Amino acid sequence: MFEKEDFRQIQSRIKPFIHETSVMFSQSLSDNLGNKLFIKPESLQKTGSFKIRGAASKVTSLGKQEINGLVTASSGNHGQAVAFMAKAYNIKATIVIPNTAPQAKIKAIRAYGAEIIMVGPKSSERIETAQRISQEMEYVYIPPYDDYEVLRGQGTIGLELIDWNHPIDKVFVPIGGGGLLSGIASCIKAFNPKIKVIGVEPKGSSCMYTSSKARERREISPDTIADGLRTVIPGELTFPIVQKYVDELVLVDEFEIKNAMKMIMERMKLIIEPSGAVSFAAMLKEEGKGLNLVSVISGGNLDIMKIQELLG
Ligand SMILES: Cc1ncc(COP(=O)(O)O)c(C=O)c1O
Repeated sequence: MFEKEDFRQIQSRIKPFIHETSVMFSQSLSDNLGNKLFIKPESLQKTGSFKIRGAASKVTSLGKQEINGLVTASSGNHGQAVAFMAKAYNIKATIVIPNTAPQAKIKAIRAYGAEIIMVGPKSSERIETAQRISQEMEYVYIPPYDDYEVLRGQGTIGLELIDWNHPIDKVFVPIGGGGLLSGIASCIKAFNPKIKVIGVEPKGSSCMYTSSKARERREISPDTIADGLRTVIPGELTFPIVQKYVDELVLVDEFEIKNAMKMIMERMKLIIEPSGAVSFAAMLKEEGKGLNLVSVISGGNLDIMKIQELLG
């Protein structure tokens, strides 16, 4: 299920739809902190987040003629990715998002031509709505994280890090439902089990951490500025993969997330969203000397005019 070859195949299948993102180094932060700090900016990915990898993986695994339309549940970024794929395939898409989603994400979904349905903020509510629409309209449901094609698509980030051919001690990855983390961890461990994979959640939205401690999936009530990580419960498929392949789960608080956003904007000249900054926030706390650390900056979609309010 998690063979090296599977990730290679998905990588070549999704190539026409994605960018291979670079790895960037911060000299000044590395000098200050004593480790070598790298980032993989998926904020510069097509659609502004890593989500296009999983969506492209799932959609390209289906025969074009099997698809009537696409439907999904998303905090915004996965919706953009599915809408992008629907446009590329010239088919219809319906995206179920929370009424709290940033305008930037809503506008981008509309710009790709998809229909939007807004529901309450709970992730389980939008997943139920999207699954019902899938049955009624006979649209293919593209899960945001709890699907092997989707999570292995996200795992191609791990493959690009392996192909980078540079020593890596630890990779830091944000967690929502766990698709990004389970994909990257299972890919990296298939190629090089010595690289440590660290999952990162906001303290105010720690369903994976809480569930891992309890050794079973637990529901939480998320409260964080990281809108992409407000997940109520880990995925059924992603939870056991995280238990098997992930070395450590770390929590960061809201101040640390804001500080990480500021640092990346100031020092690395990148626009990133709060969800994309949690991995960097954890990397900044890492103690050690001369370690090669990489944080996956998972997205950059936010309301530009609200940056000051967000960071205040
Ligand atoms: C920017 C960003 N980072 C991380 C995540 C979490 O991804 P996953 O649900 O696969 O854990 C999301 C989810 O929407 C996201 O939008």
